[in-house]
Amino acid sequence: MIRATYRRVATAFLLITFGITLAAPAVYASAAREPARARSAMVASQHELASKIGVEVMRRGGNAVDAAIAVGIALAVVYPEAGNIGGGGFMLIRFKDGRTHAIDYREMAPAAAHRDIFVDKDGNVIRGEGGSTIGYRASGVPGTIAGFEMALAKFGSGKLKWKDLIEPSIPLARDGYVLTNRLASLLEGYKEHLSKYPDSNRIFLNNGKYFKEGDLFKQPELAMTLKRIAEKGPREFYEGETAKLIASDMKANNGLITLEDLKNYKAKERTPIRGTYRGHEIISMPPPSSGGIVMLQVLNMLEEWDIASMGHNSAAKYHLFTEASRRAFADRAEYMADPDFADVPAASLVSKSYAATRRKGIEPKKASLSREVKFGEVSISEGQDTTHYTVVDPAGNVVSNTYTINDLYGSRVTIKGTGILMNDEMDDFAARPGVPNLFGLVQGERNKVEGGKRPLSSMTPTIVLRKDGSVWFAVGARGGPRIISAVMQTVINVIDHGMNIQQAIDAPRIHHQWLPDEIFHEPYGLSPDTMAIMRGFGHKFADRPGNIASATGIMIGNDGARYGAIDSRSDGAAIGY
Ligand code: DON
Repeated sequence: MIRATYRRVATAFLLITFGITLAAPAVYASAAREPARARSAMVASQHELASKIGVEVMRRGGNAVDAAIAVGIALAVVYPEAGNIGGGGFMLIRFKDGRTHAIDYREMAPAAAHRDIFVDKDGNVIRGEGGSTIGYRASGVPGTIAGFEMALAKFGSGKLKWKDLIEPSIPLARDGYVLTNRLASLLEGYKEHLSKYPDSNRIFLNNGKYFKEGDLFKQPELAMTLKRIAEKGPREFYEGETAKLIASDMKANNGLITLEDLKNYKAKERTPIRGTYRGHEIISMPPPSSGGIVMLQVLNMLEEWDIASMGHNSAAKYHLFTEASRRAFADRAEYMADPDFADVPAASLVSKSYAATRRKGIEPKKASLSREVKFGEVSISEGQDTTHYTVVDPAGNVVSNTYTINDLYGSRVTIKGTGILMNDEMDDFAARPGVPNLFGLVQGERNKVEGGKRPLSSMTPTIVLRKDGSVWFAVGARGGPRIISAVMQTVINVIDHGMNIQQAIDAPRIHHQWLPDEIFHEPYGLSPDTMAIMRGFGHKFADRPGNIASATGIMIGNDGARYGAIDSRSDGAAIGY
């Protein structure tokens, strides 16, 4: 019934607006270039040098997990805005034989952190230095090295050692690499806060002289740190010289992270969250990420409608997508947080029956108001600057990994003598429940700051299966809450609109996160008449368009070939053999 109504709405749009019928659903593909193709193995990451290192690891007999670790370490050197050892993230692994694992190496709040740590005596959220985004107090305890340690021990090939995966990145830090115009300008663009911290100023801003395109960019302290970690093993970061350097610099600068916090950090295995969309299994990250749940909620709500017939960029489709997103993000604000600290009703939220209830409030041609769309009712007692890269190895094992230091260049603090740029992940907590964070996200009481807790994330490393259960494609993105929109629209673009992985990633997208109550859109992403139709329904658009996240992904073709894609919105390289 609802499906029929929407088919009629879509038909009406196409007939009235374009004078065409629905006999052959149109595929609107913005990308002209083909995805990178290889027979056997592929790495898609946001820097060519990192992708090459991952490929080399697989040529030496390493599997996708080994390669993913080496790529992660390399990005910490060549992609300092987001690649890191001073942050954390999530790794989703699918072995060819069907074993599926999720590693949570999200940062943990230091023990001294508490609910009101980012609020002044008048109850206002502290901005700038001392708050949750800039300076020493903004950092959670980094998880990247512990996550990679766990990944290697449990899921590595056993053919390559820890040292083998760190070592290729050491010369890149020690001897340097040539800066692109993009990275040189980006560093200068972040001078306001990077310049406040002596090691950040020296390393990333060339002592105030800044870097230019073509300069050789060296990070000798980071090279030394990586050498120590390579030789002494991952515990060095948490208990050795590196840990001491982090704790003493923190202490000297009113930071919170202590030696004890570092020693107590633990990566965790989580059970991946699973759902289906039109018969395809979707595997993604569970809490402490909201990504998997929000995506599955939206897909479940949309499944009822014939999105393919509406067409990729239509007002009919975007209206439904917006309404579904509004509801899922309202639930995010209320229900989602670190499951070790708060009850998160994940299974109820991703159930088809809950989606059916949530969908009932969506009207065909009328936008809801976010202030009137509250979180839905579910049973609580159920028992209980980012970068994404994807790796497929010759055996067909897949890793989908997203990790981050939150904002570009994180807290802007480089720990003295280590070259480690620290995260500002504390801002992913609700500094004060109800007050928007860096990404404008309004979050609730469950995601308040608590010592030892992981802040709620939007990172959405995802793997989609064919109906026969084999891996079809893997995708993820950077961009805060917009990550979720980028990933779910990529999934819709492939499944409903029949796009290849490059087209699906490049195609224009929109984003609505409940609050603020407006649709973010991209330059040239929506035609004026589509926007006019949507305004007619009552939707509001953000004043200015801007890019919505940036994704990377790999698809495995029917013929077994690997197809890699880097978002046209950013740098990177998909390389294979
Ligand atoms: O975990 C999260 O959701 C955020 N810290 C991600 C930040 C991000 O994607 C910034 N990227 N450009």
